[in-house]
Amino acid sequence: MGIITTIANHKGGVGKSTLVYNLSRYLLKYYPKILVLDFDPQANTTWWLSEYANELNVKIHDVLRYGVTYDLQDAENLDKFDTLVQYATVETVKKDGSISLIGSSLDLAATKLELSKYDSIVYFKIIEIIRKISEPYDLTIIDTPPSIEMLTSSAINASDYVLLPIQLDLLAIKGAMDITKILIPTAHRYYNPNLRILGVIVNLHRDTKAQRATKKTAADAFGHYLFNTIISRSEKVGRLATTKGSIDKSKSDNQFGLLAEEIHNRILEDTKRSKEGVQHGNKTR
Ligand SMILES: Nc1ncnc2c1ncn2[C@@H]1O[C@H](COP(=O)(O)OP(=O)(O)O)[C@@H](O)[C@H]1O
Ligand SMILES: [Mg+2]
Repeated sequence: MGIITTIANHKGGVGKSTLVYNLSRYLLKYYPKILVLDFDPQANTTWWLSEYANELNVKIHDVLRYGVTYDLQDAENLDKFDTLVQYATVETVKKDGSISLIGSSLDLAATKLELSKYDSIVYFKIIEIIRKISEPYDLTIIDTPPSIEMLTSSAINASDYVLLPIQLDLLAIKGAMDITKILIPTAHRYYNPNLRILGVIVNLHRDTKAQRATKKTAADAFGHYLFNTIISRSEKVGRLATTKGSIDKSKSDNQFGLLAEEIHNRILEDTKRSKEGVQHGNKTR
């Protein structure tokens, strides 16, 4: 089974969707079959990755609604579920591997409320759904909404790893710390004891006095979780929000490549540590 990683920070505008979009291409070098799940009703990642996905009649909310409502242990239901997933999936990038997307739309916001009536069982069901959908892929990346809520926590509960993007301001750092203090301990305790923080990504970096000062706060808060690669605020990356489509070769391009390499190395190290832990009879976290 492949690796599942969620990108989360309930502070909006730190670059969750931008990172999903830009990093996924560089991660293809290590994980040739990638799935992106857009769990944000704002659907920015869907919009950036595939215009076609916007047009589709079947999206992530349909998949979640069906999977939560029907018992997927029943073979007939599972068949229907698989067909729904197939209809919802769009292959967006085929060069050097493939990036598939299950897109979202505003309908996801209504479905989220509708599914809340299932109380805590919904969390277990969504874990089951995410893990089933991600089976054929080397890596699944889940983009999440800028809020601490059912969709964000379900994505985290189903994941092997969490990536926490921040920018060097105190509110973004607080947003990432809230995830580490609230959602991750709950996931560990009730849903997913093997969940790990893969790292904290500094995005939107500018070499200003204020950001240099905040860097120290981030280093104190996150220590070795901070990735060495820092993504600068760049006009080319920012332009994506208005033009969409691929960014040209640029300094940020290189930074995304380096970050993808660091992410891959951390996953390799972690997998190695886990195997050693299991061999010695104690699982590491
Ligand atoms: N490295 C960057 N350089 C320039 N603009 C960026 C960068 N990262 C993100 N942005 C811009 O910042 C805004 C918020 O990013 P977004 O990815 O939508 O954040 P989030 O998903 O966390 O809410 C977008 O307009 C995006 O284009
Ligand atoms: Mg976003």
